[in-house]
Amino acid sequence: MYESLTTQARKILAKDFALPDAHITWQRPVDPKHGDVSTAVALQVSKELKLRPKEIASTLATHLASVEGVAKAEVAGAGYVNVWLTPAALLMELQQSRTAHTASVTRKSDRPVIVEYSQPNIAKPLGIHHILSTVIGQAITNLYRHHGYNTIAINHLGDWGTQFGKLAVAMRKWGEGKTATELGLDGLLALYVRFHEEAEKETMLEDEARAAFKKLEDGDAAMKVFWEEVVQVTMAALERTYERLHVSFDFVHGESFYMDKMQPILEEGKRKGVFHVGEEGALIVEFPEGTNLPPYMVLKGDGATLYSTRDLATVRYRVDQFHPEKILYVVDVAQQLYFQQLFAAVQQLQWDVPILEHVSFGRMSFADRKMSTRKGNILRLEEVLDEAVRRADAIIAARGESIQTEDRPSLATMMGLGAVVYGILSQNRKMDIVFDWDRILSFEGNSAPYLQYTHARAKSVLRKAEAGEDYDLPAPSVPLTERERVLIGTLLLFPQVLREALDTHMPHKVANFLYSLCQDFNAFYNAEPILQAEGDTRAVRLGLTACTAVVLKTGAELLTLRVPDRM
Ligand code: ARG
Repeated sequence: MYESLTTQARKILAKDFALPDAHITWQRPVDPKHGDVSTAVALQVSKELKLRPKEIASTLATHLASVEGVAKAEVAGAGYVNVWLTPAALLMELQQSRTAHTASVTRKSDRPVIVEYSQPNIAKPLGIHHILSTVIGQAITNLYRHHGYNTIAINHLGDWGTQFGKLAVAMRKWGEGKTATELGLDGLLALYVRFHEEAEKETMLEDEARAAFKKLEDGDAAMKVFWEEVVQVTMAALERTYERLHVSFDFVHGESFYMDKMQPILEEGKRKGVFHVGEEGALIVEFPEGTNLPPYMVLKGDGATLYSTRDLATVRYRVDQFHPEKILYVVDVAQQLYFQQLFAAVQQLQWDVPILEHVSFGRMSFADRKMSTRKGNILRLEEVLDEAVRRADAIIAARGESIQTEDRPSLATMMGLGAVVYGILSQNRKMDIVFDWDRILSFEGNSAPYLQYTHARAKSVLRKAEAGEDYDLPAPSVPLTERERVLIGTLLLFPQVLREALDTHMPHKVANFLYSLCQDFNAFYNAEPILQAEGDTRAVRLGLTACTAVVLKTGAELLTLRVPDRM
């Protein structure tokens, strides 16, 4: 985006300041009176060049002013360069950037990027908090794919662990002889909850559960059958939820997948002197003084493997199988220390590993006290999604005539599910994420319904004009209004925003952008007649409407949302 400007600015910096590869980004000035785009590059390189920012900025402005398509370039503030483009140049930039809105062209890499996300521990149903890793991970995956990366999405299911022992004990005691299939997910959950209640009074239960899990680990045939059935029952339910959320994986490799892949690693670790015998015969990895990392246990004293053992096997398997350039772990910040240890342990093993990154996110809290104080019981994701759809449907009903739809159930679904997902993805993942029904379902402000409504509005204009989304932008013979310029300026930032969101793994940057685009489009729509305009003016306005619709849809889908054509 603004590619020719960027190229020119780089040339100037290279020629006049001997700075060949400056990183140049463009921003929209807050006040449109300050130009169409602005760069702070002079401020950023002044230290390196040992020159005053204003001096650099002024050289840049002088040269940029004579670039074709630039109407004016000025120094502003401490060393910003503000640039005004001609209407023809603005529209041409926009026309050119339109291919980038839909096509994935940036890069084709042979070594894939692995994104691991969702990873619920099964035998328990999905809780609302599981949605965080699930949609953040899917959005990041979508961003990589959009940019042409070979991307592998993996669900590292927690399908192994003491929860299966607990469930086995609970079924034996209170399951009335039913199988997992007969009990179904709800029955299993009830038993799981019951186990925890009873275990508070009866401490022996925990030991029984551990013993039952040990039997499973030792290959007991009956336990294995039971385990397989529980996995199947939960997976079937899980698949339905993923489908509702437009989430999908290339591989579902649960922790159980690595059962037979741990032994060689334990041997390798011992042979290389990385795994030491610690307290009570456990195997641990120790880290150098300065790292402040506590020892990392990879085998219990009784010979049982751990979550960590499976993670080491997972890295090894992925490296051998896929030769990735990067592995991302989209996991709760609570496991930050754990991942530091894992990555440090991998380093000690001296495997030829790619970049390993923990893409962490904060906790989820609730504006509604009823949601946060549900004790003992899990707030199930499915329940929240159903409620979102119900609430959306009620809003549609209450709005009456002002919402037009031929298919109310599907609009309610799109709106309700979109609201939940967007409510999460529009917040900075590093912060604690607040879940607030009123905010996420609002028709104003940074919400899915607002975005969906704006998209439908743009589509409605295009329908009335009988114009498609690929409507071409003409080279106008008329000047542009301020609102048109603002809208174009925002649209032009889209590729840059996507790139930033990808590089930082921050999907909320896309959401923020879509929100400001909606605001700019609605301001334009409310002030400038589109269908009633004539000649080039009408053509330009329809073109901007078409661009807005495409960008909103593309951006929304990257965030796993769907947008309606009518609303
Ligand atoms: N299932 C784990 C949990 O719920 C998260 C898995 C994270 N991924 C990993 N490779 N350790 O805590």
